[in-house]
Amino acid sequence: MTIPDIVIAVDGYSSTGKSSFAKLMAKEFGFLYLDSGALYRAVTLFAQRENLIRKDNSVSVSLRNALGTLKVDFDREGRTCIDSVVVENQIRTMSVSSQVSPIAALPYVREFVDRRLHEMASGGRVVMDGRDIGTTVFPNAGLKIFMTASMEVRAQRRFLELTAKGQSACIEEVKKNLQERDFIDSHRETSPLSRAADSFLLDNSNMTMEQEILWVKGVLQGKFLILD
Ligand code: DC
Repeated sequence: MTIPDIVIAVDGYSSTGKSSFAKLMAKEFGFLYLDSGALYRAVTLFAQRENLIRKDNSVSVSLRNALGTLKVDFDREGRTCIDSVVVENQIRTMSVSSQVSPIAALPYVREFVDRRLHEMASGGRVVMDGRDIGTTVFPNAGLKIFMTASMEVRAQRRFLELTAKGQSACIEEVKKNLQERDFIDSHRETSPLSRAADSFLLDNSNMTMEQEILWVKGVLQGKFLILD
């Protein structure tokens, strides 16, 4: 299937399978995959390492200047790196998950991440996932998808992801973390999570990845009148 040189924006709640789906689309279409949430997680890990998050989860204003020294990137395998060192596992811990939403709510952090995303996507043919890609970062994206799934399914997925990595987790705690993040992500002042009016809604509670790919191919064919 010949896909035009577009940006595909995938937004939605945490643990709805956005990144798995976005990664698979990138592979299927020969696009570059960019995980915007990983950049917010990297900023959070950086702030933790620099001791810029206080016990009450408030963030020191020094983070703003310190960001000037943060070199965050993805390697060839798409793993997140700080100063060229892979930090993929470190950014996925519960410790980072529980502090990332307040960090992602800071306007200067959002500017930092948006700038990096535009730099990395300059060549086009990109699938990007996040919360505000279709609404704020790439409002002219060629295709916008908004993903959702039931809370039970999301919590179960996140729980399995954590335990597969050997991290201890309890399903109720995971659910609570997801609910808290949903609330902060959709109620913050800067770029809250919201569905773009021109996005396609995908509820994948009862779908396999193969069905999701068939779904998006159908959407692309219809939207761009692709015949092959
Ligand atoms: O997708 P994720 O769970 O890895 O994202 C981590 C956090 O980053 C999430 O709590 C919300 C925030 N985020 C955001 O505010 N905007 C984005 N475009 C992507 C993620």
